Amino acid sequence: MTNNFSTYLAERQQLVTDELIKQISNLEAPSRLKDSMLYSLEAGGKRLRPILMMASCESYGGNYKSVLPVAIALEMIHTYSLIHDDLPAMDDDNFRRGKPTNHRKFDEATAILAGDGLLTYSFEHIVSLPHLSSEQKLFLIRILSKASGPTGMVAGQVLDMEAEKVDSSLAELEQIHRLKTGQLINFAIVGGAFIGGATKEQLESIEHFSNYLGLIFQVQDDILDVTGDQETIGKPVGSDEGNYKSTYPKLLGIEGAIKKKNDYVAKAKIALYKAGIEHSVLEELTDYLSNRNY
Ligand code: IPE
Ligand code: IPE
Ligand code: MG
Ligand code: MG
Ligand code: MG
Repeated sequence: MTNNFSTYLAERQQLVTDELIKQISNLEAPSRLKDSMLYSLEAGGKRLRPILMMASCESYGGNYKSVLPVAIALEMIHTYSLIHDDLPAMDDDNFRRGKPTNHRKFDEATAILAGDGLLTYSFEHIVSLPHLSSEQKLFLIRILSKASGPTGMVAGQVLDMEAEKVDSSLAELEQIHRLKTGQLINFAIVGGAFIGGATKEQLESIEHFSNYLGLIFQVQDDILDVTGDQETIGKPVGSDEGNYKSTYPKLLGIEGAIKKKNDYVAKAKIALYKAGIEHSVLEELTDYLSNRNY
C-alpha cells in the first residue's frame, strides 16, 4: 500500500467517524441507548462501505461531500448488522472491533435495541437531507432497504445460519455471500454512482463490478477467520469453525479460497474497466479489500 493511499484511507475513515458521531450524539434518545449505539460506532471499523461509496461517486465526477451523509447511513446499517451478528443467538462472539461486543459491554436487550435504533435511524437520516431531491431520496431508500432487508442482507444471514453444520456447494456459498455481504457493498457502489450522476445503463454496468467486490470481501473475511491475528482483526479467530459455518476455506481449503478470490479479483477488474469510468481509486480499493489483513 502506498503512503498516499494509506493517508487517503485514514482521512476518509476520520471523515466518516466524525460525521457518525456528530449525528448520533445529537439525538434526543435515552442515554443508555445512545451510549450503546455510539459504543459500537466509536469502536472503529474500517469504514470501507462509506469509503467505497464516496469513491464510486467520484468515479462518475461527483463530489464525495454529497455522498457522505448517505454513506454514514449505510455504515449505521452495517454496524447494526454486526451487533446482531455477534449476539448469542447468532455467532455468539465476544469481541468486535477490538473491544467486547455490544451485548457483552451492555446487555442483550440493549444490544438488540441499539441495532434496531441504528437501522431505523439510518432511513430517518436520509429523509432529512436537504441537498437531495425527494426523487433521489426515494431511489436511495428503495435500494438501501432492499439491500438490507429480507431479500438482501437479512436473507443472507438466515441462509448463513441454515448452512451451519451442512456441506454447502460453491453455488450455495456464493449465494450466501452475495446476500449477507454483497448487498450492502452493492449499495455502496451503485448508490455512490447514482449520486455521482450515473445513468441507468451506467448503474447496471457498475453493478457487475460490485457483485464481484462483495464476494472478494467475504472470501477474505472467511480467510482471515482462519489465518488472521486476533489482535489485528479485532474479533475472534476460529469463530466460523466453532460455529460449523459454511465458508470458502472449509469448502476449498485456504489455498483454494485464495485462488478463488484472485479469480474474482480478475473478473471484478474486467467489469470495472468495462464501466468506462475513472477507475484508478476503485481498482486500488479492490486490491486493498482483497489483500487486507484486518
Ligand atoms: C465484517 O465487516 C463483516 C462482514 C460483512 C464481512 P468489516 O470487515 O467491514 O468490519 P468493520 O466495519 O471493519 O468492523
Ligand atoms: C457477517 O458475516 C455478515 C453480516 C454481519 C451481515 P460474518 O459473521 O462472517 O462477519 P464477522 O466475521 O463476524 O465480522
Ligand atoms: Mg455471521
Ligand atoms: Mg460473525
Ligand atoms: Mg466472518
